[in-house]
Amino acid sequence: GKGIASLASLSETHQLLYKTCRDFAEGELKPIAAKTDREKLFPKKQIEEMGELGLMAVCIPENVGGTGLDYLSYAIATEQISRCCASAGTIMAVQNIYVNAINNFGNDKQKEEFLRPFTDGKQIGSFSLSEPGLGSDASAVSTKATKKGSNYIINGTKSWTTNGFESKGLVLFASTDKSKKHKGISCFLLKKTFPGFFVGKKEDKLGIRGSSTCGLVFEDCPVPEENVLGELGKGFNYAMITLDAGRIGVAAQACGIAQASLELAVDYASKRNSFGVPIAKLQLIQNKIADMALRVESARLLTWRAAHLKDSNASHSKEAAMAKLAASEAATYNAHQCIQVLGGMGYVSDMPAERYYRDARITEIYEGTSEIQKIVIAANVFKEYGV
Ligand code: CAA
Ligand code: FAD
Repeated sequence: GKGIASLASLSETHQLLYKTCRDFAEGELKPIAAKTDREKLFPKKQIEEMGELGLMAVCIPENVGGTGLDYLSYAIATEQISRCCASAGTIMAVQNIYVNAINNFGNDKQKEEFLRPFTDGKQIGSFSLSEPGLGSDASAVSTKATKKGSNYIINGTKSWTTNGFESKGLVLFASTDKSKKHKGISCFLLKKTFPGFFVGKKEDKLGIRGSSTCGLVFEDCPVPEENVLGELGKGFNYAMITLDAGRIGVAAQACGIAQASLELAVDYASKRNSFGVPIAKLQLIQNKIADMALRVESARLLTWRAAHLKDSNASHSKEAAMAKLAASEAATYNAHQCIQVLGGMGYVSDMPAERYYRDARITEIYEGTSEIQKIVIAANVFKEYGV
């Protein structure tokens, strides 16, 4: 566990998972990460291999095809994947959100159709809540679901759908009655093959360029009523519950980027000479290394704590938001400092520092911006004090 001091305190299973994921990521992801980013390639082969390792449905019970591990395992695995390729980390995180939502709220038939075939990573899923007119204000969903016979007819536009280009299955949030605000939102299961379901262009992004991000358009798209996930009108609560857990994944992804940045800076500092000494001997460089190590370790402990609470069925909204906020800031800070330690070499794509910097930035935006995490944290703090 080089660089992860707290690893020794984990169970043997968790340590073994760490090693398996780290070895896989070093061997299979690190060599392709730069090209994946540069050419915006979906790493299909590697994602399927991650599926074989059980990483595409980590917390799903084995009886529906999942890996049956806990959220701490999920956090450990996501960090190791993201440490070598943050695009693969994003694809994995959203796939796990997709399967988790169906596992939590779906019935047996829905699980057979929309969950089991997705557990091995050969089929990819998406989770679509955001729209052109809303992101942070998730209760403002305006994509419409209108009951007609035994179908719901979907009309509207979604935006920013991760895995949208490759996905075969979709967890979609739409409103049956906008006047009811969040209580009018329901969750639907769709296949890409449904008529009236169109995928827009892929966004050209700053980072995580190996994962697709697409707009989706629905024009009179019929969805059978048995594809309503869980109860009608509960969609917003399902989204919030799913995102509480999902944020542990983004936090872990951010820890991976923060850790990779630290390790690259340490390595470079030990080899680069300036004024006749390795720059690692300069106190101003040591200061940066200490700050980076502190931030990633603190973020990881918050992430593992949120995962532990989730695994204990304890409330974890606040802790997941704290983990996501701290880890995304650690990733951005560490990637920034990593570039500084590398000097000019930090600024060119011969070295991965500039990619870490670009990849880090998304972790402060998706699955709720940093401002939204603060809103969640403050609301929970006030609640704890009865305010
Ligand atoms: N768990 C369960 N229920 C919750 C909840 C939670 N964590 N948070 C809120 N709720 C429930 C409330 O109890 C309330 O339910 P009732 O009406 O039944 O009492 C209802 O939801 C409304 O609650 P609020 O009034 O607090 O909701 P709000 O409108 O103020 O919104 C918010 C709260 C935290 C800002 C929320 O809108 C939010 O999380 N926004 C960010 C959206 C987001 O994260 N989007 C991510 C999209 S997916 C993605 O990005 C994937 C990816 O990149 C990889
Ligand atoms: P806005 O909500 O318009 O926010 C703009 C600014 O205002 C932000 O700084 C925000 O923090 C601030 N702000 C907004 N409200 C408040 C407030 N009440 N108090 C203080 N500040 C506030 N969504 C999905 O549903 N599924 C996906 O798979 C998905 N993947 C994504 C992948 C990428 C690469 C990107 C970029 C986005 C993805 N998203 C996805 C959408 C993402 O969750 C939203 O972009 C995010 O929630 C922010 O919403 P917004 O972009 O509409 O910003």
